[in-house]
Amino acid sequence: MSDLPVIIQGGMGAGVSAWQLAQAVSRRGQLGVVSGTAVDQILARRLQDGDPGGHMRRGLEHFPFRAMADRIVQAYYIPGGKAARDPYKTLPMHRKDGPREIQELCIAGNFVEVFLAREGHNNPVGINYLEKIQLPHLTSLYGALLAGAGYVLMGAGIPVKIPGVLDRLANHEPATYPLHVTGAYDAEDFCLSFDPAEFMECDLPKLARPQFLAIIASNVLAATIVKRANGRVDGFVIEGPTAGGHNAPPRGKLQLDQAGDAIYGERDRVDLDKIKELGLPFWLAGGYGTPEKLQEALALGAVGIQVGTAFAYCEESGLRKDYKEAVLQKVIDGQARVTTSTSASPTNFPFKVVRLEGTLSEQEVYDARPRICDLGFLRESYRTAEGKIDFRCSAEPVSIYVSKGGNAEDTTGKRCLCNALMATITLPQVRNGKLTESGMVTSGNDLSKLGRFLPPDGGLTYTASDVLNQLEAVLKVAKN
Ligand SMILES: Cc1cc2nc3c(=O)[nH]c(=O)nc-3n(C[C@H](O)[C@H](O)[C@H](O)COP(=O)(O)O)c2cc1C
Repeated sequence: MSDLPVIIQGGMGAGVSAWQLAQAVSRRGQLGVVSGTAVDQILARRLQDGDPGGHMRRGLEHFPFRAMADRIVQAYYIPGGKAARDPYKTLPMHRKDGPREIQELCIAGNFVEVFLAREGHNNPVGINYLEKIQLPHLTSLYGALLAGAGYVLMGAGIPVKIPGVLDRLANHEPATYPLHVTGAYDAEDFCLSFDPAEFMECDLPKLARPQFLAIIASNVLAATIVKRANGRVDGFVIEGPTAGGHNAPPRGKLQLDQAGDAIYGERDRVDLDKIKELGLPFWLAGGYGTPEKLQEALALGAVGIQVGTAFAYCEESGLRKDYKEAVLQKVIDGQARVTTSTSASPTNFPFKVVRLEGTLSEQEVYDARPRICDLGFLRESYRTAEGKIDFRCSAEPVSIYVSKGGNAEDTTGKRCLCNALMATITLPQVRNGKLTESGMVTSGNDLSKLGRFLPPDGGLTYTASDVLNQLEAVLKVAKN
């Protein structure tokens, strides 16, 4: 019998699939996946909030590099937590190969998230990254490997160089990763590099090399990854355009419907026969979070499914409770609405946005927010006239973006997802003691089906186990 999971709880950044959710799913024998996005900032902010429950410090106690862990606790931990109107510390942003402070936080943040998700059971835990967020890749992966991540899952790009990085980091060997730099000349080599030896405080045995699953939306891309990968690829998650989070852009010319949503068509359909020819296990994602769709996926030859939206609203997810309840109430009332915005995300990928009052889905909330870029995960690396690397984000102040060679038109409607998504998981930045960042919720089109997990008494909560119970019922029937 295969020991592959049938149900993968999809990685949901930032911090929606934090360790609590992944642990709940993995304990049940399916694959829980933590988001590895921005976990450096998340660790620092949770420590500044007084580390409720002591979980971050417990994770750090198991971190193999003691002096580094102590530096982090000293720098960020505030006993009792910061005052509500105080801002969180502004951390240096990731750059090519630095700075050290954020690299250390990144290794430790990824370690803590995976370590805590693995606590108390022996089942594998995965970690999810977006290929587009390249600067933290090497430090993130090293931290995740140190904690024994069983799977690395990566989408939003073409991660052909990740498998080789995993092989090297598992041996504590130096690794490099090609940084995409807009405007770079062919001959220019802009590689990220990372040597674990510069961070290790003690000798460590070889680490387990996690399985690598690429998240893709086209069979051509799957074939390319198999052909060009610099190491073992263990399978694919095939994600369709109804999935929550970022979606692959539609093929061909971008067409919008009346509501301004991207239109997907026949050309966006993945040819599963071609996927099967690659001979690797695959999971289907995007609207597969129901027993019927699981059955369908199995009949189509998939090992199983990856589910996000159904888990995003369960008790264990990191989503703010008031947002969860407000959206679930809309689901009950038949008023839940998700759009596929082609302008909201600075990545330029379509991004699913839930319409919710008081969040950045609403024009007046967006208009009221001064443009500030101080987290910087979604910045684009570009080549300066002097041949150096600098960074710009289409959600930063327009004049700054333009001064860096950006096109003013590209800034229209861009949301600062970095700040918004931190606010969505109860870690909003507070500015001048007054302005508190607003959140923004993403979900797949399956949102309207979440009523099936809610209790009949009108309650607005359900657990990860409630989702798994419904989905796994299909597997029990299939076995009997
Ligand atoms: C709140 C939320 C955040 C997400 N964030 C990410 C992410 O950071 N990385 C990623 O690869 N996929 C992300 N996804 C996609 C999920 O991992 C999963 O593939 C998708 O939700 C499956 O489709 P479904 O939403 O119809 O269940 C996110 C989905 C949701 C709902």
